[in-house]
Amino acid sequence: MANRIVIQADQREGIISRHIYGHFAEHLGRCIYEGLWVGEESPIPNTKGIRNDAVEALRALRIPVLRWPGGCFADEYHWKDGVGPKESRKRMVNTHWGGVVENNHFGTHEFMLLCELLDCEPYICGNVGSGTVQEMSEWIEYMTFGGQSPMADWRRRNGREEPWKLKYFGVGNENWGCGGHMRPEYYADLYRRYQTYVRNYDGNRIYRIACGPNSADYRWTEVLMREAGGLMDGLSLHYYTVPGTWSAKGSATVFEEDGWFEVMRKTLFMDELLTRHSAIMDQYDPSRRVGLIVDEWGTWYDVEPGTNPGFLYQQNTMRDALVAGLNFHIFHRHCGRVRMANIAQTVNVLQAMLLTEGAQLVKTPTYHVFEMFKHHQDAELLPLRLDSEEYRYGDAAIPQISASASKRTDGTIDISLCNTRPDSAAEVELALRGLPEGARTEAVGRLLTADAMQAHNTFERPDAVAPKPFDGIGTVRNGVLRVELPPMSVASLVLTS
Ligand code: AHR
Repeated sequence: MANRIVIQADQREGIISRHIYGHFAEHLGRCIYEGLWVGEESPIPNTKGIRNDAVEALRALRIPVLRWPGGCFADEYHWKDGVGPKESRKRMVNTHWGGVVENNHFGTHEFMLLCELLDCEPYICGNVGSGTVQEMSEWIEYMTFGGQSPMADWRRRNGREEPWKLKYFGVGNENWGCGGHMRPEYYADLYRRYQTYVRNYDGNRIYRIACGPNSADYRWTEVLMREAGGLMDGLSLHYYTVPGTWSAKGSATVFEEDGWFEVMRKTLFMDELLTRHSAIMDQYDPSRRVGLIVDEWGTWYDVEPGTNPGFLYQQNTMRDALVAGLNFHIFHRHCGRVRMANIAQTVNVLQAMLLTEGAQLVKTPTYHVFEMFKHHQDAELLPLRLDSEEYRYGDAAIPQISASASKRTDGTIDISLCNTRPDSAAEVELALRGLPEGARTEAVGRLLTADAMQAHNTFERPDAVAPKPFDGIGTVRNGVLRVELPPMSVASLVLTS
């Protein structure tokens, strides 16, 4: 058999931080407004303005952390405009994303409420590009200071007595681009300065995240680690899977096998990026104290025809499900350095979990992968050796199979598998070493697949791509399990002994 996986069930390679399954929601297009926030007066059922159907769907994913308010929006956002009575909040123009009016009805209090409803940690990104040190420092004081102070007292007047717990704070976003077009030397100095005033109040310990590189900009990582590594807890990385070119990315739903293969190949580049950025970080931080935070990742296609080009609304197919599975397996392998990842974005933007139209809501294939993989969160990564057949297309080749395995605290083993080939099934033999002596091991599983690469969910056919019980699993005999993975599929197996 050509596809062979050996899993060592009695050893561990590290902990897969649950934050690798994090999310990102920006004031962009219909992500926050419509997708998550509809306002208290809306006929769409809501809790203090936040739509209930979205919260219910997202809670099932056990979202660990949510990044907000941007993205590029973060370096144009002035938080004071988004607190206090809604009717007197300043209206601004969201110049970066579609030039629409932003009424600031969704601000700090609403975001913190959303995180409470989702039972996730907030990750706030501050404004370095167009904001002041004072503004950033006062935001931290407003949110986290428990005593008497101008900002804490203002928070109380705005209805929140207790300070919030805030762990994750980003000091700017993409400051090499939309966040100010800075050189790394300049940003490193600004980072040093701004982070000084991101204070730890009342036992709240902030994990400071510096703006990291764009994709393969290794010099940015080098300069940041050299000049400011000792003053940060995390360094971000942004990498999107973009087929074609930035000006002609191609459609989310209209593509053939070349478009499928290109997306798989470009997604797998994440592994090289993490390896090379980690190697630079290792030189300055050999104990791996500083986390690599992949706080924007996912597919980026041309927008759906007829939609606002500044809204980045795209459909989501079986191809995107594979992208999610492949990226998670890469993040797991790098869990010694990668402490968080945030898919862009949660609703209605880029590789979304949910798409909405008025009161309608649909779960995407990507949503289902997050749900199927959720047991990897905070589990022990098990050593895994994979010998895979090749998937060759044109002059290039990638592995047909991708896999990862982890162990929960109660000993249950979760294995996830991807078959990247759209045209052929794969037989996979899993050798399970180090299982409890003499115990009988049972395997069950779920499968996400489709009969076409372009398959996706619509409001009319919301379950066209949805997980089903996986009947291609054999029984575990002498520590060996055989599975038959259909073409273009993502599977999750659960092994109990
Ligand atoms: O996620 C969309 C945009 O992509 C973000 O605003 C920005 O940080 C990145 O370029």
